[in-house]
Amino acid sequence: MSNTVSGLSFIHICVFIFLRLYFANGDVSYTIAEEMKSGSVVGNIASDLGLGISTLSSRKARIDTDRDDKRYFDINLSNGDLIVTQRIDRESLCDKKSTCVLKEELILENPLEIQRISIQVQDINDNAPEFSEGLISFEIRESAIKGAKFLLSEARDADIGTNAVQRYIVQHNEHFTININTEVPGRKQGELVLVKELDREQQSEIKLVLTALDGGTPQRSGTAVIVVTVLDANDNTPVFSKPVYKASLPENSPADSIIVKVSATDADEGPNGEITYNFDHMSNNYVSLFSIDQKTGEIKVKGAIDHETDSSIELRIRAKDGPGLTSYCTVMIDIIDVNDNQPTISLKSLSNPISESAPPGTEVGIINVQDRDSEKNGKVHCSIQKNLPFKLVPSIKNYYSLVTTGGLDRELVSDYNITITAIDEGSPSLSSFKTIQLSVADINDNPPVFEEQSYSAYINENNKPGSTLCSVSAQDPDWRQNGTVIYSLLPAEVNSVPVSSYLSVNGDTGVIHAVRSFDYEQLQSFKVHVMARDNGSPPLSSNVTVSVFISDVNDNSPQILYPAPEGSSFMTELVPKAAHKGTLVSKVIAVDADSGQNAWLSYHIVKATDPGLFVIDVHSGEIRTQRDLLESDSMKQNLIVAVKDNGQPSLSATCSMYLLISDNLAEVPELKDISYDEKNSKLTSYLITALVSVSTFFLTFIIIILGLRFCRRRKPRLLFDGAVAIPGAYLPPNYADVDGTGTLRSAYNYDTYLTTGSRTSDFKFISSYNDNTLPADQTLKKSPSDFTDIVGGCDYSPEVGTFTK
Ligand SMILES: *[C@@H]1O[C@H](CO)[C@@H](O)[C@H](O)[C@H]1NC(C)=O
Ligand SMILES: *[C@@H]1O[C@H](CO)[C@@H](O)[C@H](O)[C@H]1NC(C)=O
Ligand SMILES: *[C@@H]1O[C@H](CO)[C@@H](O)[C@H](O)[C@H]1NC(C)=O
Repeated sequence: MSNTVSGLSFIHICVFIFLRLYFANGDVSYTIAEEMKSGSVVGNIASDLGLGISTLSSRKARIDTDRDDKRYFDINLSNGDLIVTQRIDRESLCDKKSTCVLKEELILENPLEIQRISIQVQDINDNAPEFSEGLISFEIRESAIKGAKFLLSEARDADIGTNAVQRYIVQHNEHFTININTEVPGRKQGELVLVKELDREQQSEIKLVLTALDGGTPQRSGTAVIVVTVLDANDNTPVFSKPVYKASLPENSPADSIIVKVSATDADEGPNGEITYNFDHMSNNYVSLFSIDQKTGEIKVKGAIDHETDSSIELRIRAKDGPGLTSYCTVMIDIIDVNDNQPTISLKSLSNPISESAPPGTEVGIINVQDRDSEKNGKVHCSIQKNLPFKLVPSIKNYYSLVTTGGLDRELVSDYNITITAIDEGSPSLSSFKTIQLSVADINDNPPVFEEQSYSAYINENNKPGSTLCSVSAQDPDWRQNGTVIYSLLPAEVNSVPVSSYLSVNGDTGVIHAVRSFDYEQLQSFKVHVMARDNGSPPLSSNVTVSVFISDVNDNSPQILYPAPEGSSFMTELVPKAAHKGTLVSKVIAVDADSGQNAWLSYHIVKATDPGLFVIDVHSGEIRTQRDLLESDSMKQNLIVAVKDNGQPSLSATCSMYLLISDNLAEVPELKDISYDEKNSKLTSYLITALVSVSTFFLTFIIIILGLRFCRRRKPRLLFDGAVAIPGAYLPPNYADVDGTGTLRSAYNYDTYLTTGSRTSDFKFISSYNDNTLPADQTLKKSPSDFTDIVGGCDYSPEVGTFTK
């Protein structure tokens, strides 16, 4: 410190000398440095003013000033030196004035004399530069470009001139240098110059020590700390954590399910780093499906998501910070299939109806099955119900053919409901059904079938033409005209007459009508074939035999063959006088063209000359004596015999029987009277003619029959046994009886005995109802086998009335 003071003193001395010279002519001037020690000598005022030391005391010299407060100087009266009495601080006296002059006055009394003294106070570097704040804060946007200048607040230095702040130094750093701005004259202002861009994200605050230096000697400095806060600039775009987000989502996920959360970061801060998320150019299809939380980036389900529409969805997400820097990412959403679609069955073609003649393997229809789901969920199995003659044959892709597996029969099953079931492999699986109605078209494959194997019709003879015999009925299960039955008679002949003249059949109803009136005695039975034909094309038919049996009606009265009709015969039976009781006297022979009961004859004596003498066998017609004859008995006996059949009502015939009780015809003079009749001769000639013709006929007949039946060697049955021929003309015209259907008839078999009058000439006329006695003319025309056919295969041989002699 003493060195400093002595240094100062040296300067003072030099300055002093110079100033002294300078102010010699006017007021006395001195120049001193500030901050001189009290008692330091400024100059010798006595000598500078030319005053003697003693004068000073005597004249009461003193230093005076205008200022009241402080007295900086005084005069040493003993040597005349002007001395500093207290510290002089230039800065407080003159602040920044470049010259600082203190004006003092030296006052001398006796006489009062005022000498002005100017004392220039010179600056010394006694003040260091000083910043008004120790901390200088700057906020600099990181976007500031290189070369940007930031004015620093000035450091103050109370000193002036070179002792004032001369330069600034900033702590070494990469971003800033310092520059002295001299734009304002006389002021040296520091400014920070950006030499390298700031990056808030790297360093958000920079602290630098700023030093202000003055130019004094020794140099003084002041420091402050510069705090540079780097302000954010939106220089960072948001950055997504991944460029592509992958997510998978089952379809039909409920609304608000979170799919994925995207997230982006922005290094910027504040609004610059505030990110909002949005969809970028989303297709209209997706707008209703997804939502995004703008703040959190959560992507959620909004609508119904369907795998079948889109199996994967790509969304672009935009992240945007406050001022609008954006970046993008992609979200790939895999839509996972859920088995939510039923299979659909569609019928692509169907041959309906299908003909029942279609062979197995015929393709009936083509079916297509679709399932919009994928993989297993879309894999479909198709089937139809069992027990149907159809199957599904998988074809290309999703196609199936419906083919027949067996023959079809419309008459058994005319319609099929084929239910196709399609089921997918999903779990749980979904299925659907479709029912196809398939009709089977008819083919005329069934002939009409009669309800019965054969029909029999019974009709009484003498029927009215047009009366109904019976009806036949045939069924044909085919469809419509293929099953429409039409009846008709098969052409044939019965007794050389077309059947159509006997019968007619109603084509629609199958009712058979008689066309004519039948006569049992002409025709007992016949067969016709009725055909039932359907209306198909070609038509199918079948036929049935209808046997028509004509029943006898008691329309023929008994015919008495013997005795000859009344009045035409001279036949008189001789009764020996010696005849005893029970002697056969005669016999009434009668026949009935009817059959059965209608031909069952009974004989009764209705009137007799002597009612007690003769009796007639009710069945055989044999007339016998009832007692021994007496002499008294009348020679001529007359009987009236009635022959009745058993029909309902019964028919009858009567005849007269003349009996002559005599042993000798000659004894009977009135014989002629009894027997002769005018008509008899005529009848006799008829009888003879008939007898001859019948005999001739029979002979011819027998020859033919024998010839025909040569091989069969059957012994002809004798119908007549006796010498007396019965006139053939009296035989019933037809003794045909057909079969055993009339079972009663055999029970009524009976024999008719014919008696010619003599005991030895009995003959038997056999008429068995089991026999087939066919009309002779028919026999002649037909071969035996024909007969067999007509009769219906029964083993009847045609046997004909034959007689031998
Ligand atoms: C087929 O279905 C129809 C209507 O559903 C029904 O009327 C008909 O009886 C069915 N047919 C068969 C053969 O099941
Ligand atoms: C009858 O059958 C024939 C074939 O035999 C067939 O062509 C026709 O369509 C059938 N008619 C009806 C009505 O079914
Ligand atoms: C009648 O039917 C039989 C078999 O039922 C057959 O043999 C015959 O040929 C048919 N006759 C006619 C004319 O159709």
